[in-house]
Amino acid sequence: MKIVEESICCSNTRVYVGRGAVREVLEKIVDGNVLLVRQDAVDPKYVVEALRVKPYEFVLPGGEQAKDVDMVIQIIKLLYEKEFQRKDYVIALGGGSLTDVAGFAASIYMRGLRLVNIPTTLLGMVDAALGGKNAVNLYGIKNIVGSFYQPHAVISDLMYLDSLPQKEFIAGLAEAIKYGVVLDRELFEYLYKNSAEVLGRDHDAVEYVVHRSTLNKLAIVKQDPYELGRVRIVLNYGHTVGHAVEAATKFSIPHGIAVAVGMVCESLIGRAIGVTSIEVVEKLIDILKIYGLPTSLNELDAKVELEDLFKALARDKKRYGDHIHIPIPTSLGFWTPYRISVSELRVAVEKCLG
Ligand SMILES: NC(=O)c1ccc[n+]([C@@H]2O[C@H](COP(=O)([O-])OP(=O)(O)OC[C@H]3O[C@@H](n4cnc5c(N)ncnc54)[C@H](O)[C@@H]3O)[C@@H](O)[C@H]2O)c1
Repeated sequence: MKIVEESICCSNTRVYVGRGAVREVLEKIVDGNVLLVRQDAVDPKYVVEALRVKPYEFVLPGGEQAKDVDMVIQIIKLLYEKEFQRKDYVIALGGGSLTDVAGFAASIYMRGLRLVNIPTTLLGMVDAALGGKNAVNLYGIKNIVGSFYQPHAVISDLMYLDSLPQKEFIAGLAEAIKYGVVLDRELFEYLYKNSAEVLGRDHDAVEYVVHRSTLNKLAIVKQDPYELGRVRIVLNYGHTVGHAVEAATKFSIPHGIAVAVGMVCESLIGRAIGVTSIEVVEKLIDILKIYGLPTSLNELDAKVELEDLFKALARDKKRYGDHIHIPIPTSLGFWTPYRISVSELRVAVEKCLG
């Protein structure tokens, strides 16, 4: 098992990565009442067996339908009824949608109780469960309400991936590829050369990818925990266009799939403005194909109306006035921020997605 420890803002976060990590560490780090918030597809057995106390349970479906403010209210009501105090724990067991809901509820109940994330999707392990961002949807608007709240601990027990459908596993790899493109050439090369092992879920290969992604994400979050500077936006590579694609499909495709298309489009924008090397574009398209990820809109299992996509693009959360800051890859493993007006971005996206 690998342990990553990072002091982020005013709290200390420990991330445990390895098969059997829940059994190894959960009992040692949890010493209060527990509300286990879990996805219905995930077996609670290992968590329940590893705890000293019998947890209360709150079960949610997978996907965006769970990320609703109503669910947050229900979790808070349960915490109150069971007399949870700040020293007590919410354990979030599930994919990125689950850790978003449970994390947000944990961050606002009594202004915050202890949160342990146990991500069960690859996307959760390499991205969503790390870094302290939580958000839920309101009136159907994605991630419109949320908070920054660092978890007490994250346990990425790779055993959970055994039951994850291959489509979801591959969607998670898009985020690992993202770290490779803009931050970590070594990770990119590893993913490029070892696709058979990664896709075959070889234990060492998956542990390497999750551990390395964790290091990349926490190193960035530590420098800019509240996304106030110009550092954390790098994690948004592929997401400006990706989120707009997701919204235009009414969230019917996995997040990572939309990010894959977004990364290609944003690297082509970089090429058009003369900052992205041809190697980045070529190798990115290559690696996405190797992993069976889409590189363009027509490879998606959903129809996308460009007008819906542009509407979503204009509502990007990183928009300041008429401009959006997007991270653009320069050479493999490096990036630069780029300020672009919404109207210029529309023209650029029309070209790169067309
Ligand atoms: N907070 C953040 O920093 C952050 C970052 C990236 C993404 N996200 C959010 O994460 C969400 C996407 O996360 P996701 O891709 O993990 O989706 P998800 O949580 O909806 O999980 C995908 C599917 O896999 C199922 N599942 C989960 N674990 C399983 C397991 N071990 N075995 C079998 N099935 C399992 C779920 O029930 C669901 O149907 C989006 O809402 C996105 O906005 C948040």
